[in-house]
Amino acid sequence: MVTLKSPQEIEQIRAAGAVVAACHKEIRKMIRPGVTTWQIEELVEDVMAGYGARPFTKTYKDYKFATCASVNDVIAHGFPNHTPLKEGDLVTIDTVAELNGWLGDSAWTYAVGELSPIADKLMRVTKECLDIGIRHAVIGNRIGDAMYPLHKHAAANGFSCVRELAAHGIGRELHEEPNFIHVGIPGKGFRFQEGMVITIEPMINEGTWRMKIDDDGWTARTMDGKLSAQFEHTIAITKDGPVILTSQDD
Ligand code: MF3
Ligand code: CO
Repeated sequence: MVTLKSPQEIEQIRAAGAVVAACHKEIRKMIRPGVTTWQIEELVEDVMAGYGARPFTKTYKDYKFATCASVNDVIAHGFPNHTPLKEGDLVTIDTVAELNGWLGDSAWTYAVGELSPIADKLMRVTKECLDIGIRHAVIGNRIGDAMYPLHKHAAANGFSCVRELAAHGIGRELHEEPNFIHVGIPGKGFRFQEGMVITIEPMINEGTWRMKIDDDGWTARTMDGKLSAQFEHTIAITKDGPVILTSQDD
């Protein structure tokens, strides 16, 4: 069942989303070669604590960390660790804040130092895919109307879209209905409704869309070892169009 949110509830999610955005704004300042994803993990814990928020993923299933830190061929759900990031790495930091019982969820890919041309293009195209998905998330459209242009944009640039990890409704729970992947057919799937709050979180790969999971049960990697990037926002569907609840610009 899809639980539609009132304007007041959407403001609660926006408040949680603002904490996630604050985390990303701090992460951006510290990313450089030599920094470890463990230092980013600690930064996120500190920023959330400063807002009286809770890092939701620390108690989600058997996940133990405040962040997912996914480097290069890791698509999603990598564990933060003590390996220094190096020049040219792509690192995706995904984090979920809980504030007053409501959740905000956003992932962002960062460039470590100077990127190769292909990594730079992958990062740019992936952000464009998120923006395309959001732009088409309007009342009157179905999910396929938004995901079709998203995955076509990846393909037109020679990239592929992960099909085995989904986006989701969000609110008091991290994974609410609806559930969908970032590949779609125009006119197919659920209709966008006023008061829906969902994530859009395309994971775009340099090579194959196929993935494998490490023995830790979480770390999702590209099957071919090539790069992956991801940008994720939590958004609300309103009469006035999609509203980004994890926006970093203010
Ligand atoms: N953005 C992720 C998601 O959509 C956040 C959860 S990460 C997890 O599921 F590792 F905790 F699962
Ligand atoms: Co998510």
